[in-house]
Amino acid sequence: MEILCPICGKQLDRRPDRWVCPEGHSFDVARQGYVNLLPVDRKRSLHPGDTRQQVLSRREFLEGGFYAPIARTLIETARELGISGELLDVGCGEGYYCTRLSQALGMELTGLDISKEAVRWAAGKYKGPTWLCASAARIPAGSGSVDLLTSLFALTQPEEYRRVLKENGFFFQVLAAQDHLMGLKSIIYDHIDLKQKDTVPTLAGFQRVKSIPIRFSFTVEGEQVENLLAMTPHVYRIGKAGAERLRNTTRLTDSASCMLNVFRRT
Ligand SMILES: C[S@@+](CC[C@H](N)C(=O)[O-])C[C@H]1O[C@@H](n2cnc3c(N)ncnc32)[C@H](O)[C@@H]1O
Ligand SMILES: [Zn+2]
Repeated sequence: MEILCPICGKQLDRRPDRWVCPEGHSFDVARQGYVNLLPVDRKRSLHPGDTRQQVLSRREFLEGGFYAPIARTLIETARELGISGELLDVGCGEGYYCTRLSQALGMELTGLDISKEAVRWAAGKYKGPTWLCASAARIPAGSGSVDLLTSLFALTQPEEYRRVLKENGFFFQVLAAQDHLMGLKSIIYDHIDLKQKDTVPTLAGFQRVKSIPIRFSFTVEGEQVENLLAMTPHVYRIGKAGAERLRNTTRLTDSASCMLNVFRRT
């Protein structure tokens, strides 16, 4: 995939130890193998995105295989659609889903996340793909260079996604549904607010091909209970009493409920 300089927008020459543009801007390849293309002046905080603790918890949990049905659905869907070529995963975290998807489909993978911790872990574990620390709002990729863009439990920036996708390229969006992790929610909250959530949005510049509900149950024990909490936004909302109840939970059977929306760039 063509990667552009975040300062001047010209193409970067990817040398083994640093990437350089014709204007002389250069970006070191970190020891672990990722490249930080997030200009300091565009950061809203010193360490944007998921924290080290969130990254580690999610990694432990996903490596436990509890969400393997989501990875399988992504792979089957991409296979059915005959997708190949360049895969860009935005908000890739530690790369659990996108590395499985790219391997199964033989696609060239670029994973992008605003969290340096996340791409550091991804790059340390998975050699071969390109790992970038960058923002979804300003993707350092050439226009029309991506065959499949994925955003899994992460953000959606339709205009920017449309720009980097090839004509007729696909966008896979996975959103948590309202009844996602009800078991966890019923432990940590006294009252669960069941307001309706739109899991099948309309996106300007995209045609929705299909929406696939993904539902399955799983059981976590011991530390995986805390890991599950730490990888959800509930970790910021939990109160003292809820945290105490969760600490006393040694085994939890819960159900995942999410939606895979398949969009095509028009
Ligand atoms: C809930 S996590 C999902 C991670 C991964 N897709 C998964 O499902 O395992 C959301 C990710 O989006 C990243 N993120 C948040 N804001 C972002 C932005 N503006 N640009 C790129 N990534 C962002 C976070 O750092 C985090 O890794
Ligand atoms: Zn430049």
